[in-house]
Amino acid sequence: MSKENTKIFVDACLGKETPYAPVWMMRQAGRYLPEYMKVRAEAGNFLNLCHDPKKAAEVTLQPLDIVGVDAAILFSDILVIPDEMGMDLEFIKGFGPKFNDPIVTEADVDRLIGGKEASRKLTYVYETIELLREQLDARGDNKALIGFTGAPWTLATYMIEGQGTKTYNLCKKMMYENPELLHKILAKVTEVIKLYMEKQIKSGIDVVQIFDSWAAAIEPSKYNEFSWKYMVEIADYLKSKYPETPIIMFPKGVSAFIERGLVYGNFDVFGVDWGTPMAMAKEKLGERYVLQGNMEPCRLYSKEATTACVEGIQEVMGGKRHIFNLGHGILPDVPVENAKHFVSECQRVSGKK
Ligand code: CP3
Repeated sequence: MSKENTKIFVDACLGKETPYAPVWMMRQAGRYLPEYMKVRAEAGNFLNLCHDPKKAAEVTLQPLDIVGVDAAILFSDILVIPDEMGMDLEFIKGFGPKFNDPIVTEADVDRLIGGKEASRKLTYVYETIELLREQLDARGDNKALIGFTGAPWTLATYMIEGQGTKTYNLCKKMMYENPELLHKILAKVTEVIKLYMEKQIKSGIDVVQIFDSWAAAIEPSKYNEFSWKYMVEIADYLKSKYPETPIIMFPKGVSAFIERGLVYGNFDVFGVDWGTPMAMAKEKLGERYVLQGNMEPCRLYSKEATTACVEGIQEVMGGKRHIFNLGHGILPDVPVENAKHFVSECQRVSGKK
């Protein structure tokens, strides 16, 4: 298995000097691409697509050729983990993800499938990665493969609320009223994630990203206890076995936490969200981590707004210890042409072309 052709992206994640700062976009394989919509229609629905390694590999590779990013991110979803823990995931059109039996009691947690058994059920993900490894190596064009997981906290929000939420009231009720139960859920999910990510690495991914998309729901003084420390545990486990595999941590909306300086962890890259000024992130974290990010994704609606932001980020980062990305996922109604413009502007300012 040759990983030589992925070196630039991996080196950039590890903080080594590279000829240019690479670029990719969170949620780059998805609904803004007509080619994605076609394959999803063939699969019947989104979950079928996740379960079909050939089709999942195909949509993973689409943004490489269409928008020209330097890395592919595995096509799957963070919620396949609770699904395989026995929670029966559904994606409802126009509504989003739904679990019909959310976790309420300790007995609900005890019923969840844990550890090895749950991680073994995610075989379709490992098969997708194996296919992608072969296809990427055959291309020989310097594109890395990013694998991912949701953070235990972000997964727990869906497992407890049963769906997306604006208020997180059920999770927070548990956090303050019965923290032991929340910790029991987080610990059980963490065990599955460790094995799942280990198997993703063994199957051929080059880099790991952990999405803590709903980090901002936790008050800063509680963030370490209910989210960060579990991600540190995952990173310590993976780094003890695979020290060469970079880990990108993306906690969204944690400026206040960054300012408190509570950011130790065995991660290589810190994903900066769009609400955090890059200059502040650089000052607080730039020595410890390579920084990824952080254009506000809605700037993609305007080419001028995109260029201005890319140039501004370049001015702060200077192409050093930096990976270009958005500060959260691309939205489905962004014109493909504008996504291409973002990528090519990042490549222009960082000297790739
Ligand atoms: O391109 C990529 O980034 C790879 C694939 C990917 C998907 N989801 C595909 C997807 C990744 C990395 C994710 C992660 C994910 N999933 C997160 C964390 C990232 C983030 O944006 O903060 C979260 C919170 C989810 C949960 C999820 N999945 C929701 C809330 C939804 C519905 C709303 C939405 O954003 O569409 C999904 C569905 C989903 N996951 C789609 C895709 C392409 C859309 C499904 C469709 O085709 O209709």
